[in-house]
Amino acid sequence: MARSFKEEQEDESAAAAVPLHETARNGKTAGATTTAAGQQGGSWLTRKVPFLRSRRGKVITVIVILLIIGGGLAGLAALPKNHHDGGADGGGDGTAADAITSDEHFYGESPAVYPSPSMAGTGTWAEAFKKAQTLVSSMTLAEKLKLTSGTAVSRNGCSGVIPAIGRVNFTGLCLSDAGNGLRNTDFVSSWPSGIHVGASWNKALARERGEGMGGEFRTKGVNVLLGPVVGPVGRVVLSGRNWEGFSVDPYLTGSLAFETITAIQGVGVITSTKHFIGNEQETNRNPFGDVESVSSNIDDRTMHELYLWPFQDAVHAGTGNIMCSYNRVNNSYGCANSKILNGLLKSELGFQGFVVSDWLAQHAGVATALAGMDMTMPGIGLWGPKLTEAVANGSVPESRIDDMALRTMAAWYQMGQNKDFPKPGIGMPDDMNKPHTIVDARNSTFRSTLLDGAVEGHVLVKNTNNALPLKEPKLLSLFGYSAKNPDQNQPGGLLSPWTFGVSSSNFTEFTAGFFNGGTYSTGTDPLAVNGTIYSGGGSGATSQSLTVSPFDAMVAQAYDDGTALFWDFVAGEPNVNPMSDACIVFGNAYATEGADRPGTQDAYTDNLIKHVADQCANTIVVLHNAGIRLVDGFVDHPNVTALIFAHLPGEASGKALVSILYGKANPSGKLPYTIAKKESEYPVVGPDLPTGKYKRFPQSNFTEGVFIDYRHFDARNITPRYEFGFGLSYSTFSYGNLTVQKSEMTEFAQFPSGEIVEGGQKDLWDVLVTVSADVTNTGEVDGAEVAQLYVQLPSSSSAEGLTPVRQLRGFEKPFINATQTARVEFQLTRRDLSIWDVERQSWSLERGEYGVFVGGSSRDLPLVGKVTV
Ligand code: BGC
Repeated sequence: MARSFKEEQEDESAAAAVPLHETARNGKTAGATTTAAGQQGGSWLTRKVPFLRSRRGKVITVIVILLIIGGGLAGLAALPKNHHDGGADGGGDGTAADAITSDEHFYGESPAVYPSPSMAGTGTWAEAFKKAQTLVSSMTLAEKLKLTSGTAVSRNGCSGVIPAIGRVNFTGLCLSDAGNGLRNTDFVSSWPSGIHVGASWNKALARERGEGMGGEFRTKGVNVLLGPVVGPVGRVVLSGRNWEGFSVDPYLTGSLAFETITAIQGVGVITSTKHFIGNEQETNRNPFGDVESVSSNIDDRTMHELYLWPFQDAVHAGTGNIMCSYNRVNNSYGCANSKILNGLLKSELGFQGFVVSDWLAQHAGVATALAGMDMTMPGIGLWGPKLTEAVANGSVPESRIDDMALRTMAAWYQMGQNKDFPKPGIGMPDDMNKPHTIVDARNSTFRSTLLDGAVEGHVLVKNTNNALPLKEPKLLSLFGYSAKNPDQNQPGGLLSPWTFGVSSSNFTEFTAGFFNGGTYSTGTDPLAVNGTIYSGGGSGATSQSLTVSPFDAMVAQAYDDGTALFWDFVAGEPNVNPMSDACIVFGNAYATEGADRPGTQDAYTDNLIKHVADQCANTIVVLHNAGIRLVDGFVDHPNVTALIFAHLPGEASGKALVSILYGKANPSGKLPYTIAKKESEYPVVGPDLPTGKYKRFPQSNFTEGVFIDYRHFDARNITPRYEFGFGLSYSTFSYGNLTVQKSEMTEFAQFPSGEIVEGGQKDLWDVLVTVSADVTNTGEVDGAEVAQLYVQLPSSSSAEGLTPVRQLRGFEKPFINATQTARVEFQLTRRDLSIWDVERQSWSLERGEYGVFVGGSSRDLPLVGKVTV
């Protein structure tokens, strides 16, 4: 008899518990082995604290958490012990005789860079800097210190609050999540998530989305939008938060971040580009018990060419804020790491804004102040009165406090928040189930942006026999747990599933992962079984006011057309009407903050698809995926005629999908990552775990360097299932007439020599080479094509093997009517053509022949040219 996923889960609960991460690492499918925490004997947390298994225990815990945090997200405080004294004792549960018990072991691994550079007021910040100087010079030390620590006193739904200082007419700050739309309030839109924007490869649309989204934050009185995410980049395939960012490629991510930041800040809202830096896994992201946060150990060249790259674009775009991350970098905490904050960010990139801690990411007082952190969130943490004391006893110079205040106030002025900005938190009720003033932030001007954004992030990767678009079907059969809306779209207080985008998934497991510091014995279900997903879970989730599920939109369309619809969203092995013109199976791959994903595929969904395909000659698969989802378990089934990666489209999900399925829109998305045939083909699949002598100090060594995703597949000559940049259209495109032109106006000196502006040395953005090509729509349907430019550096053939075969260095997305041609132009800057020279500590132009490749994906590059530098 057909069994549902829930029934299978119940059966499996008695089975031997396979640790989730073993599951992931062994490449076993998780659907069969992973069950809800409670059913499988509990998470790490519930096993350690058995009372959490009971309803009462959970309620008590929630109350305790609420008392602790008093506002904002920050539930991370739930259980971890204080860590600022940690590391020096001899305890721990490391069994190895040589177990490291003191942090001193790691001293010096991350170079010391002091003092913290003061804001200089360079470039576009000059005016705001002057105003801030005047304001700050009129403030008392106590007032300046107020700007450095969040307060829990203010009762609203903001994730973090800086109190007003009436005496100097400073109205205070509301900081709120996140990069995909405003979370935890009503009357806002659910925008396409980062991964969806990445799959759209559309700069103009990213800009429009930023403007529309930023406008909603502004109307609600949110001064600082806690996004966009450009880290994680996506080193770890199963990382729980990859979906919040745009792509595993730093160039694509950086370009879309640039547009997003410019647009959001253009409407006066400060962006908090996050998480700085190396925040590549959720497992062990926070200290827990006597185990410190994982350390991302990154060499200097990899740091610059991969992880820092998109942050550089963000600073270049003028981001007013950067959030330092939970993890350690080369064994020094992200928010106390002078090399990355004072060195990379504030010196090399010339960052003018302020640095805020991720929520509870502060583990030292004086050290974080000296290392360049400017604001701690969500509460006073290790600063507040203690920072006053540190100034009084000379441990922290008052000039550092001045600089913290200056940077924060300059960002406030820079976005014009001193004039006509809505009252901080005005549209952020602390409890939406109590009467409150409606502040409707939605703006009808951006409805088309929400829909276009949703459409363009869908990637069609298989379409045999022109299965799509559908042609006046008489009977359609719909299957899968992911077609309909979850049963609830209902706020329920600070810690409800709705608040964290978990309505379709397993909230018990979510809380276990989210509140335990990412201890490695928990994970998430591989799928959200209670309905479709509009975003992933955690602080990056969206709070939709209204959603259109795929099923809603299918019903509306079928009703208009008089199409008969059958559906079964429950059975794992449903009956199939053999007269169906097409069968559409809806599945998903869920991911959330606080835990890494248990697998790249799941047996339950694969079996469902195969079961339907066995009986339906035209089986179309739609997967809403919050990350890389392998498909070799079903995609070669002869009756699987079409496959769409539907990512995380936001509230217009169903409408967008139906417009693609019925050919009202022509698909134009391309994969912002590689889909391998086998999990083992990726360089890094799952998170690193604490082992051996490093049991108390988990280590993640980024030994693959820049060779993640397609850089790895190219270097090893592995043929993926679907390559980076790939996606089908209902039309076809050809490429021709490549020209590669060197700039005559610009110097080709090996090293840049310009002054430092926001983002680094000014001449890094000089255009050295311009590439142009024709793109022709050779099919019969109008549509957009993402033309991509990849560059091969002279050193890519060197024996050292440190430079990738090819790297993305340009993309354009023209809309081209059938039979027409568009000319695209790509500008290559000095940075685009340089490598990071570790000795010289500078970007360095290479001498020799550069290869230039243009085409429709990373493996379909018909135009080949070269240029000698
Ligand atoms: C997340 C941040 C978020 C913050 C505030 C943290 O758990 O890592 O991305 O902005 O909470 O909610």
